[in-house]
Amino acid sequence: MTIRTIITEPNQLLRQVSKPVDQVGKEEQTLMDDMLETMYDAPGIGLAAIQVGVPKRIIVMDISKEEGKKEPRYFVNPVIKNKDPIKATYEEGCLSVPNQFAEIDRPSKCEVEYLDYHGKKQLLKADGLLATCIQHEMDHLEGVLFIDYLSKLKKSKMSKIKFIRVVVLMLIVPMLSFGQNQGTCYNTVSFCPVGKRMGFTKNMQSFSGAFEMGDTSV
Ligand code: NI
Repeated sequence: MTIRTIITEPNQLLRQVSKPVDQVGKEEQTLMDDMLETMYDAPGIGLAAIQVGVPKRIIVMDISKEEGKKEPRYFVNPVIKNKDPIKATYEEGCLSVPNQFAEIDRPSKCEVEYLDYHGKKQLLKADGLLATCIQHEMDHLEGVLFIDYLSKLKKSKMSKIKFIRVVVLMLIVPMLSFGQNQGTCYNTVSFCPVGKRMGFTKNMQSFSGAFEMGDTSV
């Protein structure tokens, strides 16, 4: 298995509509293996083929919450059959949109039809994080990113927050090194480095799984 390069905004490939797979063969399985390895390495909980530059309708996912327990899922040519009218809100991130996170409303449940790793037709009823993750990844197949749902105002607020984070880090890091030089103990100081925040959060409660999303980063 090979870890592939994840492309990021504003790479125009991310805006491409991915093509259906004719048949799940050795080439597609190798791609899925590589995508999974790439997703685990990132780390994230979902990845679409276009994020490694391949415009095929293929998604991999693993939303297992237990440390060390892997539950990989593979979706080829996924089609959403039903969506629940009730919406759920998750804070989303994306491996292709590093360091940006926003609350997005999506249907809370969905039914998806797809081919599995072996090309066998499957139907899955999904809710919670899984439903959100599937919808986020399926957007990638249409060239859509989660930031597309945000208003211009929200986008500008996000970039300001990002700027503030960077400034805070620029201030904290020299302070920490200064403290160490002076023999001061800063053990109680903890902060979340930019790009290392993981997982979806729901109702502002931390989720243990990492979304592809860099965070859900789905
Ligand atoms: Ni994504």
